[in-house]
Amino acid sequence: MPLTPDQLTQITALTLQHYDQSAESFREGTRDHDVSQNMAALLRHIDAPAPLQILDFGCGPGRDLKVFRDMGHVPVGLDGSASFAEMARADSGCEVWQQDFLALDLPAERFDGIFANAVLFHVPSQELPRVLRQLHATLKPGGVLFSSNPRGDNQEGWNGPRYGSYHDLAAWQQYLSDAGFIELEHYYRPTGLPREQQPWLASAWRKG
Ligand SMILES: C[S@@+](CC[C@H](N)C(=O)[O-])C[C@H]1O[C@@H](n2cnc3c(N)ncnc32)[C@H](O)[C@@H]1O
Repeated sequence: MPLTPDQLTQITALTLQHYDQSAESFREGTRDHDVSQNMAALLRHIDAPAPLQILDFGCGPGRDLKVFRDMGHVPVGLDGSASFAEMARADSGCEVWQQDFLALDLPAERFDGIFANAVLFHVPSQELPRVLRQLHATLKPGGVLFSSNPRGDNQEGWNGPRYGSYHDLAAWQQYLSDAGFIELEHYYRPTGLPREQQPWLASAWRKG
C-alpha cells in the first residue's frame, strides 16, 4: 500500500519533532562521534580543486560543517529541524538551509560533493528515487555523493518516534544506479568487527 500524502506529512512532522525536542541531548551525545573515515571517503573521490562546495545534507547540529570549514572548504548545511538549523548556523558560521527532505528546493549543479551522514534512511523508500534525483541534479558534473545509513533487510516503518527505512546493499545499489549514480566504493562500519556487528553501510557515488 503506498503511503498517502497525509502519512508522508506525518512521517516528516513526527520525525522532525523528535529531533527538535531532543536537539540539545543529540548534540551532546554526538559531538565526539568520529566520522573522519566517512569524510575522507567523500573527499578522496572529488576531482575538483579546493575549496570545495559541499552540501552537508541533514547536517544536524553542525559538527561536520565545522570540520569541512576548518579544512578550507565551503560547506552549506541543510536540515529540517529548526533547532538544528539554528545550532548549526551559530556553531559553524556556515550557511544552513532549513528544508524538508520531502520538499527540497535545491540549486542546479551547485555542489562538488554531498555528505549525507546518517540521514537518507529517514526518507521513505517510496520517495527515495525522487530525492536521489534531486541530489543528483544539485551536484556539478562528476560530483560525488557520500551516504552512510543503518542497514537492514529492506524493512521500513516507525522506530520509536522516528521513521526509518533500512536497506541492504543490493537494494541500495539499485536505488542509486536508477538515479544515475555510479558506485565508487562501499564499506561497513565500525571497521574491524564481524559483519553482524557492523550496522552501518557507507557508500560513495559519482554523478553519472
Ligand atoms: C541521525 S541525524 C544525523 C545528523 C548528522 N548528519 C550527524 O551525522 O550527526 C538525522 C538528521 O536528519 C534530519 N531529518 C530527518 N528527517 C528529515 C526531513 N524529513 N527533512 C529534513 N531533515 C530531516 C534530522 O533533523 C537530523 O538532523
